[in-house]
Amino acid sequence: PVEERVDALLAVMTLAEKVGQLHQTANIDPAADAELIRSGAISSSLYASGATGGNVKDEGLLSSAIDSAQAIAVEESRLGIPLLFGRDVIHGHRTVFPIPLGLASGWDESLVERACEVAADEAHLEGVAWTFAPMVDISEEPRWGRVAESFGEQPVLSGRLGAAAVRGFQGEPVGEKGRLAACAKHFVGYGLAAGGRDYDTVSVGENTLRNLHLRPFKDAVDAGVLTVMASFNDVDGVPMHSNRRLLREVLKDEWGFDGVVVGDWGGVGQLMNHGVAADLREAAVYGIEAGIDLEMVSGAYAAHLAELVESGEVDPALVDDSVRRVLRLKFRLGLFERPYTGTPGRSNAPTGATRALAREAAHGSMVLLSNNGVLPLPAEPGTLLLTGPFVQEGEALLGTWVLDGRGEDVISPEAAFRERLGDRLLVQDNRFSERGVQLVRQADVTVAVVGEHPWRSGEANSVARIGLPAGQLEVLHELAGIDKPLVVVVYTGRPLELGPVLDLADAVILAWHPGVETGNALADVVFGDVAPFGRLPMTFPRTTGHIPTSTHQRPTSRTLTPEQDKTEGRYLDALVLPRLPFGHGLSYTTFSYGEMALSATELSRAGGSLEVSVGVTNSGERRGREVVQLYFRDPVAQVTRPNIELLDWARLDLEPGQSGTARFTVTADQLGYFGRDLTRRVDTGEVVLMVGPDASRGERVSITVTA
Ligand code: IFM
Repeated sequence: PVEERVDALLAVMTLAEKVGQLHQTANIDPAADAELIRSGAISSSLYASGATGGNVKDEGLLSSAIDSAQAIAVEESRLGIPLLFGRDVIHGHRTVFPIPLGLASGWDESLVERACEVAADEAHLEGVAWTFAPMVDISEEPRWGRVAESFGEQPVLSGRLGAAAVRGFQGEPVGEKGRLAACAKHFVGYGLAAGGRDYDTVSVGENTLRNLHLRPFKDAVDAGVLTVMASFNDVDGVPMHSNRRLLREVLKDEWGFDGVVVGDWGGVGQLMNHGVAADLREAAVYGIEAGIDLEMVSGAYAAHLAELVESGEVDPALVDDSVRRVLRLKFRLGLFERPYTGTPGRSNAPTGATRALAREAAHGSMVLLSNNGVLPLPAEPGTLLLTGPFVQEGEALLGTWVLDGRGEDVISPEAAFRERLGDRLLVQDNRFSERGVQLVRQADVTVAVVGEHPWRSGEANSVARIGLPAGQLEVLHELAGIDKPLVVVVYTGRPLELGPVLDLADAVILAWHPGVETGNALADVVFGDVAPFGRLPMTFPRTTGHIPTSTHQRPTSRTLTPEQDKTEGRYLDALVLPRLPFGHGLSYTTFSYGEMALSATELSRAGGSLEVSVGVTNSGERRGREVVQLYFRDPVAQVTRPNIELLDWARLDLEPGQSGTARFTVTADQLGYFGRDLTRRVDTGEVVLMVGPDASRGERVSITVTA
């Protein structure tokens, strides 16, 4: 019936009304924009406000602005087509979860799905019907601030967590559960911005595009994502907002995506900045021909599309197709049946249940990078000094892209540690002084909380150097110079150069930006109520000059072994091996791996599969979770394949002395790739499987793919 309803509506729409459905405005003001809404000139909006400005935080104001604007659209416009309100609900709405890179560190699809479900419920209460998430850009470039919003560098991790986010945001069946349309973004190649400079140019070949960057988007489409956002970058000279081949031919035609492609903010207009469109009129032609259905903010369609159709310069069928997609989305979301929030004024503040989930997610966001045994601290650690720029922070621990979360909802490290330690807690903020030195001497142990503020990560926040922000390492040197145990906690939105910190500290916890439950989750981990189980979703380079360093490296004419790297490496002044490999993360216990067992050593490429299993024993003295990782390498293929690629993973919760088995099913299809002729293929021949605790080590076994 959705298609019939779309047909019926399309048949009676004027050209102006059709063009209106393709225009998204930045901010609807129900009073100032009443006439535009009434005439059907606006389809969608990012923000809604009364007289109060763009980002309405006061409870109830957003929903009342949305309901007022919606009433004009539904009750006063000729066709009564409801407005669609989108918003950047990226890692939580009011209950803020860890940044996506932190969520990814838990390697837990169910957790991501549940977090997105909570975010969708809270946002939906306020009339939001669409989120611009998940971001599934493959992220291997720490200088690029937007890695914070990603699920990291590996296509399987990104794709599976992205699909989980889509399920969580949208629900099943979509629209009926009061959830949001999700948006897989940014299509495509945005993570390859030259030099890590946001929005910069992208030079990428088809091998890298097909075998890496397009894959998580395909997973999101297969998971039923309703919308996709085009990216700001060009791909080898063709800006994505004019990239007919990738948007129309690959995404829509080849993959059969029947949802909405939305431009990014001003993206169609910015075709002029790229130097491919002479004016806004020409930009509109490029945008609609490429397959941008809904234009965000620059107004190129609103200003020129009707005239372009009337003059015969734009095929009306293109406009009809885009309008069809937008209407289909509105029907699928149930907006025609339920246009209003239905819950004006209802509070969406964090509850006990949403906080419990945020705390669980924040546990997963903590990656124990090193530990000489100082952690966990005993419940009675004597006097503890908590020091550093983030110990009393609220808002700064929420991370980037938080429109609706509030600093006052955040449990700071100080609050959580105070609850446990009372007056045995000493606190000192950033300014390290003589008094600071005295406090360290007075304390039995120091926990230093360093890293970067969210303003230094996220969109448009690239850095040229990935070291700690100025001054922090110097303070850590001072702290380490005093003979007291030193635990360092790093809050960050990107991989940093942590070698010097790892050298100085007795233990290092990488926490990313963990959200509203930051302090509680940190205290749980530091005092051992929870054993850390996070694993890195990105490789950590030794220093800035190492970039790019990731699991995407492919064999070269002279690939070095790790041993050769130490003696005759490619750099005269550094090893090539990363400082911390992808997948790295410690626990408070140790795990020993048994031998890999395979149900067969041959795999038919015609739909074959085999089982891989490995026994893992908790060989230490505390409970812990191991994330067992399965990788593969295809040694001979039509094109160069990565040296190592994640295939699957399993989480095992084990008591001391307990053994468990990680089981994986490997299908021939998972080993496939796009070859020289850019069609997907599975080759016969050897494939090497590796099971281990991270991407740098594990047992390797060869299997043979047969015809
Ligand atoms: O969703 C974002 C996108 O990721 C970057 N530009 C603005 C959009 C809407 O806020």
